Amino acid sequence: MRPGAVTFHPIGIVHSPFKEKVGTPIQACFDGPTEGRIEIFERYEDGLDGVEGFSHLYVLYVFDRAIPAKLTVTPFLRDVRVGVFATRAPSRPNPIGISIVELLGLEGRFLHVRGLDMLDETPVLDIKPYVPRFDVREHARIGWMEGTTEESSRYKADARFGE
Ligand SMILES: C[S@@+](CC[C@H](N)C(=O)[O-])C[C@H]1O[C@@H](n2cnc3c(N)ncnc32)[C@H](O)[C@@H]1O
Repeated sequence: MRPGAVTFHPIGIVHSPFKEKVGTPIQACFDGPTEGRIEIFERYEDGLDGVEGFSHLYVLYVFDRAIPAKLTVTPFLRDVRVGVFATRAPSRPNPIGISIVELLGLEGRFLHVRGLDMLDETPVLDIKPYVPRFDVREHARIGWMEGTTEESSRYKADARFGE
């Protein structure tokens, strides 16, 4: 494939209680069990067959309300300047988000999930099963995030994440 524009079409949309960035968890694990729904559009419904057997799913989505990207950012978790690709900042050259959610149930084309850090009406690009055997890495290093905690972050007070 030659470099150039890539077009994706959303397969669904997030229904989340979070209407604005302030107060939205910076990672789902930080803010307890926020529940919501992921609606998969009708034409993709057959793609959900078998999903109900998995307890957790990856959700890939578009940060559709992100401000323009900068290549270096100050993350919420620590007062350091680092490259955007060393962060989970929503403002990035391709504003794609990834979250692991717990699947509580599947009703038709609606996934009931727990563990949201997405804004309401976030467009969904893809759903994949979370498979510990594939995805868990023992002894992973976490760079500048080492030693950071939710308490040391400033995310709840500041909507300018990633600026
Ligand atoms: C730090 S990002 C992490 C998201 C994801 N877990 C990841 O690692 O890619 C989470 C923040 O993105 C912002 N956010 C969520 N949905 C968004 C959207 N649709 N457009 C822009 N920003 C969004 C919220 O401020 C939220 O606190």
